[in-house]
Amino acid sequence: MQLCYGSVQARRCLMDATSLVPIIIPTNHQDLVLRQLTVEDAGLMFRLIDRNRSHLSQYGENTSSKYPTIESAIFSVTHPENPDKLRFGIWLEETFVGSAGLTPPHPLFSDGGSLGYWLGSEYTGQGIATAASEALLRYANVVLHWPRIFARVHTDNHKSRAVLERSGFHFECERGETIHLKASLR
Ligand SMILES: CC(C)(COP(=O)(O)OP(=O)(O)OC[C@H]1O[C@@H](n2cnc3c(N)ncnc32)[C@H](O)[C@@H]1OP(=O)(O)O)[C@@H](O)C(=O)NCCC(=O)NCCS
Repeated sequence: MQLCYGSVQARRCLMDATSLVPIIIPTNHQDLVLRQLTVEDAGLMFRLIDRNRSHLSQYGENTSSKYPTIESAIFSVTHPENPDKLRFGIWLEETFVGSAGLTPPHPLFSDGGSLGYWLGSEYTGQGIATAASEALLRYANVVLHWPRIFARVHTDNHKSRAVLERSGFHFECERGETIHLKASLR
């Protein structure tokens, strides 16, 4: 597969200046791409979250509670809590099926960024999250040049742990109810 992302800095400048040139990341899954979230996606994201609240809250994740209203979803795109985080919609052809993100390393505390994702329950069981996670690992390696990447899952979230292990993460440690995993990119 050809990786043709362009310079991430250049694309982020364009994205900031015009909101018209979102980063698009291809995946190995037919008809599936990751596209950087724009304000136009906020309504689709909110509606998917709104009909998946219990699914998204199973393991104490805050995806549902962060977006109680459509305005909160729009605000999260126009005024992101962490402007350095790259947030993507997961698109199966023309359908918004979930979201995934890459959070850069903290300059003082870490040399590895982190990854997260969720799907609407109706889109699970097809390998979509695995393809999204693999695509983000390639992007973090090839474009962002991160040496490693971390992820955390609740100890009972076996589906998510399986996604991470299928896409190249390895168990690091368990702290309380959280499993820490790492993928080395070089
Ligand atoms: C975590 C979550 C994304 C996992 O979704 P998922 O559908 O299990 O993961 P995938 O999309 O990679 O699909 C994997 C499943 O599809 C199957 N599959 C079908 N085709 C596949 C393919 N080409 N490649 C990989 N898996 C495939 C796998 O066998 C697996 O099914 P199984 O669980 O019955 O073994 C989803 O459960 C979710 O959104 N949960 C709520 C939010 C959440 O927990 N987020 C993560 C926080 S750490």
